[in-house]
Amino acid sequence: MDFKQKVVDLVSEQVDLPKEKISMLIERPKNAKMGDYAFPAFALAKIEHKNPALIAKDIAEKISDDNFTSIQAVGPYVNFAIDHAKLVNATLNDVLTEKDHFGDQKLGEGNVPIDMSSPNIAKPMSMGHLRSTVIGNSIAKTLEKVGYTPIKINYLGDYGTQFGKLITAYRLWGNEEDVKKDPINNLFHYYVKFHEEAEKDPKLEDEGRAAFKKLENGDEEEIKLWKWFREVSLQEFNRIYKELGVTFDSYNGEAFFNDKMQPVVDELKEKGLLEESRGAQVVNLGEDENPALILKSDGSSLYMTRDLAAALYRKKEYDFVMSLYVAGGEQTGHFKQLKQVLKKMGYDWSDNIHHIPFGLITQGGKKLSTRKGNVVFLDQVLKDAVSLAEQQIEEKNPNLSNKEQVAHDVGVGAVVFHDLKNDRMDNFDFDLEEVVRFEGDTGPYVQYTNARAQSILRKANKKISMDNLSLNDDWSFAVAKALADFPAIVEKASEKFEPSIIAKYALDLSKKFNKYYANVRILDEDDQLNARLALVRATSIVLTEALRLLGVNAPKEM
Ligand code: ARG
Repeated sequence: MDFKQKVVDLVSEQVDLPKEKISMLIERPKNAKMGDYAFPAFALAKIEHKNPALIAKDIAEKISDDNFTSIQAVGPYVNFAIDHAKLVNATLNDVLTEKDHFGDQKLGEGNVPIDMSSPNIAKPMSMGHLRSTVIGNSIAKTLEKVGYTPIKINYLGDYGTQFGKLITAYRLWGNEEDVKKDPINNLFHYYVKFHEEAEKDPKLEDEGRAAFKKLENGDEEEIKLWKWFREVSLQEFNRIYKELGVTFDSYNGEAFFNDKMQPVVDELKEKGLLEESRGAQVVNLGEDENPALILKSDGSSLYMTRDLAAALYRKKEYDFVMSLYVAGGEQTGHFKQLKQVLKKMGYDWSDNIHHIPFGLITQGGKKLSTRKGNVVFLDQVLKDAVSLAEQQIEEKNPNLSNKEQVAHDVGVGAVVFHDLKNDRMDNFDFDLEEVVRFEGDTGPYVQYTNARAQSILRKANKKISMDNLSLNDDWSFAVAKALADFPAIVEKASEKFEPSIIAKYALDLSKKFNKYYANVRILDEDDQLNARLALVRATSIVLTEALRLLGVNAPKEM
């Protein structure tokens, strides 16, 4: 039950204001002793030209409802104090009835393509791509829970001049066997070497450009190499996605749009938007803005050209209500331009395009850079986290039946949760020990809490009935109140595209539950045993669902 809505309904019977307005006005008293909700009478006072305290008094006298232990005027406010036992009872009833659908809502509908992960082939997947993957995945699950249809798109960086360089480098220093053995590392190694050598011998750049031209013109040998590089890279990426449990609905990357760019260029021309600037073709976006580069002086296309084609394609293919791009904050300028160009083309739906940026990950205070070889190897991070989890389990619970699966869920969960628990715009320094820490504000802490709840339920081994689920102690109330907040948390996370709201909530609920566990004798055989077990089950349901929305598994035993 929604107690706030109840307050809105009660107030609306007494005053001449629309319910939405009342809902907006309702506050939470700063001091919890004053009640759980407060309706301020100032707005009415203005309309009715009366003293707000008198109005509040008048309203309070007219309302009575047994969901509240007191409804009284305090100065210009009408304060409502929830009957705690009733809230516990109603909330547990809701959670146990709706189970993992608790918190589902209909805030919107329609297709929402989410451009996410999108690593570049022949390069190791970076921490930035990991962030994009897990943030995008969580946003997808959250949007789905509130009614939308997410479409997860992996817009692979599988095209561009760098592939000409790579082909050249492979021919000079590479061989098939090495690539087969360790594709990404070796391809990457050739690529780094290309840049080192090109500094000494600028002719290499020309060779790279020539190879790319051939690729663009459909030369068989070049295409064969490029396809092969793409395939072996994707295989490695898929290994990481499998570990993370992330799937995609489309892998249409940059190359997919090769034959879809000319129509965009033509359209820009027709609409009189294309201008020449120092040999290149650009769209001017006003005096204070950089122009958007559409074609280089040699006629080749750019990142922007491909993204324009992709945006138009997505509109046509999915008829989206919103289109999201989860990509690093350093690309903010790019996406701003993308929207501006689409707007100039007359497409008002460009307003529904949102770049979802995130902060930078540094290491030892330094920026990570693929180019300079200063990278964190993701599969290694995941492996290390899993083996640390294994060690912990070996120490704490050596007889656990499905050890391997649990170690995987805990290790990978630690990495994912670590990435999601801070506001996505926050920058953070990457420290493996910090990532795989299992105590404090971590994913494993939430997982442990859930496993603890499950273990209590196993121990009790009782069927929970829905009869009387009222509990009146403060520990239970704190947990139930947090449970009752879950739908609002999901709503806020979906509106702000902010998984950290859910992660922080899961930590808070865990802490409240652990206090309950430390202070209440849950398994005592008395007439409240059923209600206490209901609270344990409800907590487990909501923790499991919160973790699911973050893309983290919740083992039942640890
Ligand atoms: N491949 C790009 C990179 O690694 C990210 C792509 C983001 N998506 C987009 N539609 N531009 O930086």
